[in-house]
Amino acid sequence: MTTVKQARWQAAQLAESQYWDGMNITELLRICTEKPDFLSILSQEQLQYLFDDKEILEIGVGPLGISLASFYPEKHKIKKLVKLEPLARTLITESSLIQQIWARPFIDWISSLSEEGNYIQKSGEQMEYEEEFDTVIIYNVLDHVKDPLLILRNAYKSIRSGGQILVGVDCRSILGQIKFEYILRRIAKDEILVKAHPHTFLHHQVVQLLEEAGFDHVQTIGIPSLIHIFMGSSFRPAFIAEKRR
Ligand SMILES: C[S@@+](CC[C@H](N)C(=O)[O-])C[C@H]1O[C@@H](n2cnc3c(N)ncnc32)[C@H](O)[C@@H]1O
Repeated sequence: MTTVKQARWQAAQLAESQYWDGMNITELLRICTEKPDFLSILSQEQLQYLFDDKEILEIGVGPLGISLASFYPEKHKIKKLVKLEPLARTLITESSLIQQIWARPFIDWISSLSEEGNYIQKSGEQMEYEEEFDTVIIYNVLDHVKDPLLILRNAYKSIRSGGQILVGVDCRSILGQIKFEYILRRIAKDEILVKAHPHTFLHHQVVQLLEEAGFDHVQTIGIPSLIHIFMGSSFRPAFIAEKRR
């Protein structure tokens, strides 16, 4: 799996910041509903092991600081939450969305979520934690970064032995990846879909990356049917892996 050049990643981040700057209520609702949907594919036991009494690092939380952990129903059991993000933090209360009076309670709720945990402006490639967390979350991020393997290696280093990583990333079908890499990258190179995604993955490539980074017991949850894996739309499985004791 390749790394992309700094200039390519910066172009992706420019598209990313334009996306967040242009945020509207509909899109904000969508990113808030997809997170509990994603967590719902995990068992109660998996959720408890990932979150209860745990020190958690989320990489690539987004500039509004809306963590996947904020949607864990028993989030009061989380011991510590650190949120890493290369883009500067944006306060929803300082955005133009605040002018939409009807949506004010929703905006206030988003604002309260963004206050949960500590926000640190840094990329996953630059982080230097050593065995400081029980759980690392990388949700909807790996296909946006410069060097996915380096981020997973840094995540591995940051986790204590016996700790876990939870990854959610869009995976393409075989035909979907061919279409994206050989057609869309050429004919739609100025669209945000292409600009913001320097990488695409097949689900088994994510498993390989996790193993290459050092993780054991990689589990994949939410894999569709074989026909879907061959020619369906993209899907977002959960990958859980462990740092051996
Ligand atoms: C599609 S957004 C997802 C944000 C958030 N995880 C969510 O699901 O709402 C991708 C995020 O990855 C972040 N990102 C891109 N490159 C990164 C890197 N090298 N290290 C950490 N985060 C990165 C982007 O800034 C952006 O906030």
